[in-house]
Amino acid sequence: MKTLPKFQKAATSPELQEAFANHTVQSQTQVERLEQVFGLLGKKVQAKKCDAMDGIIEEGKGIIEETDKGTATRDVGLILAAQKVEHYEISTYGGLHQLATTLGLSEVADLLKQTLEEEKQTDVLLSQIAKNGVNYASANEEEEE
Ligand SMILES: [Fe+2]
Repeated sequence: MKTLPKFQKAATSPELQEAFANHTVQSQTQVERLEQVFGLLGKKVQAKKCDAMDGIIEEGKGIIEETDKGTATRDVGLILAAQKVEHYEISTYGGLHQLATTLGLSEVADLLKQTLEEEKQTDVLLSQIAKNGVNYASANEEEEE
């Protein structure tokens, strides 16, 4: 939630900026779904730091520091970092969705499934943005140097 706006600000391609902006809004809904999951399980909502995600986010910040503003090279790095985030989310939500299904918690499973699908869509969208020119533009930047 805190990192996506930073990625959005650091991005150059309008397509990528929009993808980050949209996923920020989507992530808010995902947080609300998690709150609903806690409710369905009769548990108090509790945030817990995730060391793995922290590491991926740190790596993303490093990419911003190591690349120049306004370059496609930075956009490529941001896409790589963001896809690592999405893949981690996909594996986590995928595992939790399966667990909820096994436990017969269908409402919880449905909520987790919705978020899982959004994460998968975001991953595909990021791949498309890379394919549609950001990677090519970045390759050209390297040649010019
Ligand atoms: Fe996500």
